[in-house]
Amino acid sequence: MICRTDHDLNGMRKAGEVAAKALQALGQCVRAGVSTSDLNEWTHELMAKAGAVSATYGYKSSRGSKNSYPGYACFSVNDVIVHGIPSKEVILKEGDIISIDLALFYEGFCGDNTVTLRVGQVTPSADRLIDAAEEALRSGIQQAISGNYVEDISRAIETVAHKAGYGVVREFVGHGVGRKMHEYPQIPNYVIPCLTDEKVKLCSGMTLAIEPMLTAGNAAIQQDSDGWTVRTKDGSLAAHVEHTILVTKNLPEILTLR
Ligand code: MF3
Ligand code: CO
Repeated sequence: MICRTDHDLNGMRKAGEVAAKALQALGQCVRAGVSTSDLNEWTHELMAKAGAVSATYGYKSSRGSKNSYPGYACFSVNDVIVHGIPSKEVILKEGDIISIDLALFYEGFCGDNTVTLRVGQVTPSADRLIDAAEEALRSGIQQAISGNYVEDISRAIETVAHKAGYGVVREFVGHGVGRKMHEYPQIPNYVIPCLTDEKVKLCSGMTLAIEPMLTAGNAAIQQDSDGWTVRTKDGSLAAHVEHTILVTKNLPEILTLR
C-alpha cells in the first residue's frame, strides 16, 4: 500500500493542477481543421512552458508494443478508444469527438487526466455517450472514500454505463498514480467477483487515476498495426474521461479539477 507524506500530497496537488491547466488550454484549441499532430505540438509547448514533462512521450508499454509511445498526449478520435497517435492525417471535422489523455510529471509527481470533447455540433448519440462517461466518472469518484473498496468505484462506473446501454472497455483500467504514472492498485471499470479478503481497501492519502472508457456499441477492442491505437471492433464511438483524485475520509479531492 502506498502511503503518502504531506510533501507528497502537495506535490501531487501541484502536478494535478498543472495537468488540468494544460488540458484546459489544449481543449480550447480543439476545432474543425486542426490535426492531432497540431494538438500534439501545442501540448509539447504548453508542457515546456509549465516546466512539466510528458508522461506518455517515450513511454514503453508493458503490453509488448515494441515502439515507445510518440505523443506528448494521446489523441483518440471517434471509434478510437485510447492511445491514438498524433498524426497530420487525422484532421478534426465538425461532428467528431476527441479524447485527449494528458499525463505529465511536474517536480517529480504525475498528474493524469482525460477529457472527451465535441468538435462543433455532434450527433445526439455522441452527445449522450460523452454525458454518460462523465456521469460514470463522477459516480466512481464519489465512491473513492477511505474504508470503501476499489470494487465500489468499479461498480458505480459499471452501473452508470450499463444503465445508459453502453459497453465498458475491459482491457484498460484506472490506476494508482504518484511518482510513477502507473502504480498499485488497478482500478477496473467493471466488477470482478472475488473473495472479500482479496478486495483492495481504500485509505486516506491514496492518489488514484479513475478513467472509465465507454463504447456506444460492443466493448470489444482491436489494435492498429502501429502497436498503440486502440479502436472499437465494431467501429462504434468511444468516450474516455479521467481525473486524478486524492482519497480522504470524506468526498475525494479532485486534483485535476478544471
Ligand atoms: N494517461 C494514460 C493512462 O492513464 C497514459 C497511458 S498512454 C501511454 O494510462 F502511451 F503512455 F501508454
Ligand atoms: Co491514467
